[in-house]
Amino acid sequence: YQAQLDASDIEKGTYPFYMLKEIDEQPTVMRKLTQEYRDEYGNVNIDNQLVNEVAASDRIYIIACGTSYNAGWAAKSLIESVTQIPVEVQLSSEFGYNMPLLSKKPFFIFLTQSGETADSRQVLVQTNQLGFPSLTITNVAGSTLSREAKYTLLLHAGPEIAVASTKAYTAQIAMLAILTQAVGKLKNSEASLSFDAFHELSIIATGMEAMVDEKDYLSDLVKQYLSTTRNAFYIGRGNDYFVASEAALKLKEISYVQAEGFAAGELKHGTIALIEEGTPVLGIITEEKTGPHTRGNLKEVESRGANTIVIATEDLARPGDQVILPKVHPLLTSLVAVIPTQLIAYYASMQRGYDVDKPRNLAKSVTVE
Ligand code: G6P
Repeated sequence: YQAQLDASDIEKGTYPFYMLKEIDEQPTVMRKLTQEYRDEYGNVNIDNQLVNEVAASDRIYIIACGTSYNAGWAAKSLIESVTQIPVEVQLSSEFGYNMPLLSKKPFFIFLTQSGETADSRQVLVQTNQLGFPSLTITNVAGSTLSREAKYTLLLHAGPEIAVASTKAYTAQIAMLAILTQAVGKLKNSEASLSFDAFHELSIIATGMEAMVDEKDYLSDLVKQYLSTTRNAFYIGRGNDYFVASEAALKLKEISYVQAEGFAAGELKHGTIALIEEGTPVLGIITEEKTGPHTRGNLKEVESRGANTIVIATEDLARPGDQVILPKVHPLLTSLVAVIPTQLIAYYASMQRGYDVDKPRNLAKSVTVE
């Protein structure tokens, strides 16, 4: 497949690291997905048989590892609200050995950037044996999971070279949003009438552009709060909790800061014991209904010495908040909220002098169980 690529796809150009280039490419990837999956009438152009099979299922199981797993969580509430099909998101390495009681008509979606992850593949082998329909959403055409699943949707994100995944995460969520629209339309759900994935992705692409332009500001923010810390917390509720999990994973992977993504309300039930003078706690606030509660939790840790940093959507922001996100579809806020957290992880690694693209002990694709 290399031959079909534009040379610029696999060159760093003026970027010091691939990761920064890949973060920057995300608005383009959103537009590319629209180009690939939107027909001339503005409808979703995806194999009808696939859409029919998803729509006929009584439960969608999303199976994935690492960042792809976090992408599954980020898409869950949108899929459920627009398609009215319950969604379960499961870790491949757990699901394969402890398969839960399945619904009567399950549909399996494998999220995998590389299409080669052994943990995910072993689940696909089992679901194939059980005769269940499956879809692999991957960035690599012809990859193992793509070949072995009944259906494939490609992410068209271009090669992702940095070990820490960025553009594949946002592309996976966007791809699921597009599939969601097609399934919702077929099911004629009420929520699908007002959901236009392509319109939302175009607003998101513009919003992402504004966020990737905040590099200098975010680099300074990292210098101020995260340059020497050994640990950090990201907190949020609902969809913001799922972004917090991905944000923490990114920070851990490349800067080796021990980071945790926490459901903001759960901190007080134990983890708050870890807060010391100067511990960075980053709060993500994009949900109207939970935002005030997360702010309350930030106050609690602040009064115990934490340095708090707020990442909030413009309509929910308050004076003094450090990072302001553009307003996008309420169930797709992860697509813009994740960008500053990717950049924070990037600068935390770079400022420590690490090889951002090749963190220790990690591999881009893990082909052992
Ligand atoms: C590896 C990578 C992660 C990635 C995970 C799942 O551990 O280091 O960045 O999220 O595998 O990879 P996949 O290709 O299945 O998305």
